[in-house]
Order: sequence, then structure tokens, then C-alpha cells
Amino acid sequence: MNFHIMTLFPEMVMHGLNTSIIGRAMDKGLISIEAVNIRDYAFNKHNKVDDYIYGGGAGMLMQAEPVYLCYEAVEKKIKLNRNGMGSCTDAVDRNNDRDVNEGNGNSKSRVVYLTPQGEVFTQKKAQELSGEDDLILLCGHYEGIDERVLEEIVTDNISIGDYVLTGGELPAMILVDAISRLVPGVLNNEVSAEFESFQDGLLEYPQYSRPEIWHDKKVPEVLLSGHHANVEKWRHEKALERTRERRPDLYDKYMAQ
Ligand code: ADE
Repeated sequence: MNFHIMTLFPEMVMHGLNTSIIGRAMDKGLISIEAVNIRDYAFNKHNKVDDYIYGGGAGMLMQAEPVYLCYEAVEKKIKLNRNGMGSCTDAVDRNNDRDVNEGNGNSKSRVVYLTPQGEVFTQKKAQELSGEDDLILLCGHYEGIDERVLEEIVTDNISIGDYVLTGGELPAMILVDAISRLVPGVLNNEVSAEFESFQDGLLEYPQYSRPEIWHDKKVPEVLLSGHHANVEKWRHEKALERTRERRPDLYDKYMAQ
């Protein structure tokens, strides 16, 4: 799976994703992550990509044209890759964009705009998006992005929660992490993605490792019994109990199924 992150801060995104499980998945070629700098598509000599907001209001807005040119270049690169010409490095050269795009019957990629005004990201959405070959993530900054380009290119508006961040980079990293770990081979233990929180609509049961007693707290007896059916029963009960206490909204949904 290939992620293409359109951002004004590519180094922030790449530094955050280069390590641990996601870094290893990149090394193994299971996923690729490319951060494309929207500023490279500025159309003025000062490399400015923001401007004042029509109608007034505080702050600046990212302009439509650099975002659009950046998007076109990314989409062109995706098409070249799909057609087996991925090593063509000038794929993100905006001067050649339009001719290559034209006449190509390939379908357009999904473009996710990270915004507090989007639908709230869930495990279900992560699963849905993990089925894509290519995913374009668009990160806004300042007060956001000119609505006209959003209307033209965005297929999904996604929020990571009901709070406002300074930009879409952290939300994009969260999406990349949550989606990548669902790509086959990324987690060593495939079952761990299947039986964890949210996968079946419940929070995960409590888990314990050695030692058997720590700070006078003993590991529940049933987990030491070796009786598989009893362990499963206990875990299901604990998952139900924990979900009812901590996330009554999820519990009600689960019980109504
Ligand atoms: N950009 C700023 N805040 C955000 C949020 N909560 N979710 C997604 N993108 C954002």
C-alpha cells in the first residue's frame, strides 16, 4: 500500500513514521510513504502558498492552485507507478502534469482531507481504507484550505476527534499508522490485529505478563489454569465489563447487534 502525504511539513511526517513497526514495514516494502511538499508547487517567486481570507477573519488560508498542482503531480505519479513506470522521477514535475493525465483511463485515487469537520476516524474506516492500493492524504495548515480545491479533489473528510490541532500532519500520521498495521505482514502476529480492541466492537480485556505477583497483585487464577475455554470465557466477560464501564456508547451498540 502506498501513502502519498501532501503537506507543508514533509520532514515532520517522515520523521514521525520512520521508526518501529511502520519503519520496518517500509524497509520490507510492504508499504511506502511519500511526503510531497505543497510549497514546491507555489506559483510565485516567494514560494507563498497562503493568502488573506475573503470576507475577513483572522489568519490565512492555503490557496487552491498550489494544492491542486501538487495533487495533479501525485496522481500522475500514481498512474505511472501502476503502469510500471514508477522509476520516472519527474513524475512530480508539475510542468509535465496535464498531458500525461489526459487520455488515461485509470481511476482516481481516494483523497482524504484531514479536518476537524470530517467524519470521526474509526477502526472500521481504517479497515475500509486499508483496501486501497494508493491513498492520498491532504494536510491543511493555517486556517485551512480554499474550499474550491477541496470540492474538486477530496473524496473523504476525516477528523481524528472533536478538538482542533494546528495542522493535519499529526492526524495524517495517525491514519497511516492505524491503516498500515492492517496491511498483511506488517504485524508479526497476524492474529493480534484480529482480536484486539474495536475489531469486534468491544474494548480489549486486561492482559498480564510475568511476574505472577507484582505489588501484591496476583494474575487472575483462570489465566494460569491452562484451560483454554475458561480463559476465552473470562476474557469475553472482562471485555464486556470494561466496555460497559468505559464506553457505554460502544456497549449499547454491541448489545443491540
Ligand atoms: N486538523 C486540525 N484538527 C484536526 C482534527 N481534529 N482532525 C483532523 N484534522 C485536523
